[in-house]
Amino acid sequence: MKIFLDTADINEIKSLCKTGLIDGVTTNPSLILKSGKDFLDTIDKICKIIDGPVSAEVTQVDFDKMLKEAKILSSISEKVAVKVPLTEQGLNVCYELSKKNIMVNVTLCFSSSQAILVAKAGAKFISPFWGRLDDISQNGQILISEIIQIYKNYNFKTEVLVASIRNPQQVVESAKLGSDIVTIPTKVFNQLYKHPLTDSGLEI
Ligand code: E4P
Repeated sequence: MKIFLDTADINEIKSLCKTGLIDGVTTNPSLILKSGKDFLDTIDKICKIIDGPVSAEVTQVDFDKMLKEAKILSSISEKVAVKVPLTEQGLNVCYELSKKNIMVNVTLCFSSSQAILVAKAGAKFISPFWGRLDDISQNGQILISEIIQIYKNYNFKTEVLVASIRNPQQVVESAKLGSDIVTIPTKVFNQLYKHPLTDSGLEI
């Protein structure tokens, strides 16, 4: 299972990439806003640090505007996976870009029916949001499990990128289900190392 970092913080990315454990980065408009930095410049910098896909999200929702924005993002680097929302227009953009071999990450997936369309539109990645479903008392784990099953049934090539991760247990369950990728906020990534018995075992 590949591990992506779910952050737009350049210092965090620089430092965690040194571990050799990080395979890519995902960003979204909120994460870029939180970093306080310029959007395009941040994506460019991240692409120069990481040897793997970097998801950069469009902000437009209309087909033509989204496609125009997508072209600007994908011109930054071949590492950019253009993130588009799971809407009819988003999937139309996904289809256009995928035909040109541009990586697309379709985001905001909350149902298996949506996931079928994403694979048919040729996306490189699909991002089902586990945490946000749990937040509204639905079951994110069932969604991930269903998508993996459906994609296996038809040998769909779209990679399942589990997003909206809130804790290490979700990372472990994603691995047990056979997810291709999990994108993890830095705080949760650092928790993956931890066990109280490891700490107490070091005490003299
Ligand atoms: C990543 O691609 C997603 O945008 C991110 O995981 C969403 O996480 P959140 O639900 O914690 O905002």
